[in-house]
Amino acid sequence: APAPLVDRFARAITYLRLSVTDRCDLRCTYCMPERMTFLPRAEVLSLEELYRLSRAFIERGVTKLRLTGGEPLVRRDMVDLVRALGRHLGEGGLRELTLTTNGTRLAEFAEDLALAGVRRINVSLDTLDRDRFAALARRDSLPQVLEGLEAARAAGLKVKLNAVALKGVNEGELPDLVAWAHGQGHDVTLIEVMPLGDVDGDRIDHYLPLDAVRRDLEQRWTLVPSAHNSGGPARYVDVAETGGRLGFITPLTGNFCATCNRVRVTATGQLYMCLGGEGRVDLRAALRSADPDAALADAFARAMGEKQERHAFAIDRPGAAPAVSRHMSMTGG
Ligand code: GTP
Ligand code: 5AD
Ligand code: SF4
Repeated sequence: APAPLVDRFARAITYLRLSVTDRCDLRCTYCMPERMTFLPRAEVLSLEELYRLSRAFIERGVTKLRLTGGEPLVRRDMVDLVRALGRHLGEGGLRELTLTTNGTRLAEFAEDLALAGVRRINVSLDTLDRDRFAALARRDSLPQVLEGLEAARAAGLKVKLNAVALKGVNEGELPDLVAWAHGQGHDVTLIEVMPLGDVDGDRIDHYLPLDAVRRDLEQRWTLVPSAHNSGGPARYVDVAETGGRLGFITPLTGNFCATCNRVRVTATGQLYMCLGGEGRVDLRAALRSADPDAALADAFARAMGEKQERHAFAIDRPGAAPAVSRHMSMTGG
């Protein structure tokens, strides 16, 4: 069997984030500019290639596979991919097959996803105010997202909501958003905005450190540190008053890289070992080479030798260029 994925810091890579498209039907201001340039479709991996790559990771010990984008559900053959990957769920294969979505198309796809073996999904939702949503996502799509969440519930999918905490935008609404999510039976994670790719404004204007948010929430609620671990970067508490779970993703104020278990692949087959770095290995070239098995083995060995110890994100200087030049929509986070 191929060698398992272990890096120089003895971190075992068991979690793959696979971006299936860089396109999105929203334009969240912290993620991309209004006039975003997307990849030519010919650059993007085919369904067969995505499937082959996934299998190569599963053979090497990946047990959790998250499909991302851009928005994964804008890709036409997404459900076919999920069905094919769903056959790898079980002993010796995947323990979890999931996706991160903006929710706009969930009403259409929730049922199919559940039937293919998805149990739990992450849905990005930064605000429950329709006007604020329309300003933040630059599209008036909150009603569709809420319908999508209802469809997820009807399909029996467990939901985690992701909210990027933004000063002067959704800052004042975060307690209500958390209370609403918990009332709906959803977990929530709050996220610090990360400097990836140019956007129309300066992210420092809206950067909100989560230690401050946490202190605020502690004025209102009892936050009980939880041992719960979803296998991602969030650190969780239970909120005594709501009975719900709340996670904090703190790349800026609390680095979580020591326990990193993940890598990500772009829609063009570039393996990025760290979200916060430019280091990458070309898996598409390996896949399309004369001897793909050997080329992939070589590419994985190189990647594990190069995975960096931690990211170097900082949001501390107005006007500074983003730490990483590509957008979040290239690697799906
Ligand atoms: P769970 O499986 O529910 O734990 O999900 P997750 O948090 O791993 O995935 P999700 O797609 O919901 O990501 C939430 C946020 O965490 C996004 O903003 C991601 O960019 C961020 N994130 C995920 N992995 C990493 C990482 O390795 N480094 C950094 N800096 N951020 C990450
Ligand atoms: N910083 C932090 N989170 C981001 N997301 C998109 N761009 C950024 C950024 N620059 C979030 C989305 C989604 C998740 C995959 O990443 O809101 O929930
Ligand atoms: Fe689309 Fe997600 Fe970026 Fe928003 S954050 S524009 S939903 S890829």
